[in-house]
Amino acid sequence: MQVKCFDQPAELDLYAAQLFASALKEKPESTLGLATGSTPIGIYEKMIEMYENGDLSFKYATTFNLDEYVGLSPDHEQSYARFMNRHLFDHVDLPAGKAHLPKGMVSDLEAECANYDRMLQEQPVDIQLLGLGHNGHIGFNEPDEELQGGTHIVELEHATREANARFFSSIDDVPTQAITMGVGSILKAESILLVVKGADKAEIVKQALQGPITTECPASLLQTHKNVTVLVDREAGRLL
Ligand code: F6R
Repeated sequence: MQVKCFDQPAELDLYAAQLFASALKEKPESTLGLATGSTPIGIYEKMIEMYENGDLSFKYATTFNLDEYVGLSPDHEQSYARFMNRHLFDHVDLPAGKAHLPKGMVSDLEAECANYDRMLQEQPVDIQLLGLGHNGHIGFNEPDEELQGGTHIVELEHATREANARFFSSIDDVPTQAITMGVGSILKAESILLVVKGADKAEIVKQALQGPITTECPASLLQTHKNVTVLVDREAGRLL
């Protein structure tokens, strides 16, 4: 596991965007695993800049997002589908139909999970971008006695709903369930880029990288992967 610490968040964002650009230059038809949340927004901004300067193209790429809320349609303001359009897809040359997110508003959620896993198996992720939850979650894999390997439905922890309530009018509007790639699927990626920013994540990133490998901190399972790069800003990395 390689850990890189940056003084300025903007330097971190540029470095991460350049890693994706290099991956796409080397293999234009790469499959990219993408995340939502506050952490990747700056990275997506840098990717858009690079695309506009002709330094990055998604023309032959395929993307899979980690997760989506259950019960929100793709055009709901706070759906992750809308988030991805707003922050990346609407601004770059990724062909329509090549961006995949789990569908959170289908009648048969179990079939959707199986379908997502089948697509991931057919197009394995080359490089997976991850943020880190305050409780150690990756995707929406919350701490638990057991973790599931494949795509599945999760009950969101109150703390996670609280953390995400800032995007909704009130916590009552935050969905209680999500559909997420499992830790097993995440660990199948060829390479993983974990990005962590802010003083409030200093404790959990230390636990994830240097603490015991335990399902009670899902991100700690990343210690078992052979090709993980962790990018932290100074505040998040201060205990490492
Ligand atoms: C989002 C996701 C989550 C976030 C995590 C951190 O697709 O999978 O695991 O990465 O909750 O969120 P932020 O970046 O908002 O702190």
